[in-house]
Amino acid sequence: MATEKKVTAIKNTPKHLLGIQNLSVLEAREILTEAKSFIKLNRGSSKKLDVLRGKTQINLFFEPSTRTQSSFDLAGKRLGADVMTMNMGNSALKKGETLIDTAMTLNAMHPDIIVIRHQDSGAPNLLSQKVNCTVINAGDGRREHPTQALLDALTIINRKGNIEGLKIAICGDILHSRVARSNIYLMNMLGAEVNVIAPKTLMPKGIDNLGVKSFTDMKKGLDGCDIVMMLRLQNERMQGSFLPSKREYYEFFGLTPEKLKFAKKDALLMHPGPMNRGVEIDTKLADDINVSLVKEQVELGVAVRMACLKLYCK
Ligand code: NCD
Repeated sequence: MATEKKVTAIKNTPKHLLGIQNLSVLEAREILTEAKSFIKLNRGSSKKLDVLRGKTQINLFFEPSTRTQSSFDLAGKRLGADVMTMNMGNSALKKGETLIDTAMTLNAMHPDIIVIRHQDSGAPNLLSQKVNCTVINAGDGRREHPTQALLDALTIINRKGNIEGLKIAICGDILHSRVARSNIYLMNMLGAEVNVIAPKTLMPKGIDNLGVKSFTDMKKGLDGCDIVMMLRLQNERMQGSFLPSKREYYEFFGLTPEKLKFAKKDALLMHPGPMNRGVEIDTKLADDINVSLVKEQVELGVAVRMACLKLYCK
């Protein structure tokens, strides 16, 4: 009997995951479906598979990271890959080497996957043109953070059953946030209605062209929302003064139990981390297991990254 080959949406597309913007809805759904299958495995006592046995995965982190880096590290190891994580603060970059030279050096060692986080928007795209292996974007500048949006989507689906028809608010430093951009693309693609809420100085011009409604007032922006995603103030991407003071920011844009009441009664709260408690979010609310999905986001992040590694590394 002839064996039927599984036809997947990702099979014939380029083998890099650079952003949600160039992902089809079929591809996004395929990643989410694959990721679901890893949730149970990750909760069990035996977590190791050999899907990527023999493959070499290099994690190239040019910016600080706790969640994303450890998550990609674990994901690769659980799939059986040989994983090497490089914190580029200690690399030849300090001696003046360019991203391209670093890429060529690593490429000569025949990796199968490079996961890259970089402070410059577009760095993963550039890298993907210079190496022979799969490139996965783990966050580039203020452009995109595709695996964060995918793990956010999986977390919502896990709790609410579906994304279609939900109203999702993304609040805070929209201007500098790659998480906001990737989530806007993905949540829209999966059929949600998206509100963005920020002070005028942190709201990108032309944001409405991305298919969202923009608000500078939490009460109006949160009205009727099922999900409230809070963002960190990206101080490292700010030159000059965008805000009068952190205290004032908290008063108008920090999520408190009182402000959460503007959203739906059963609204759930998310944050990609790291959180600035008392700046964008009330510290008790952040830990309130009845409303906060923060820990679940971290947990499901590993499953999503396993799915991406498996599907993109051919
Ligand atoms: C986010 C990032 O790096 O863009 N963090 C993360 O990946 N969990 C958000 C942030 O740094 O604020």
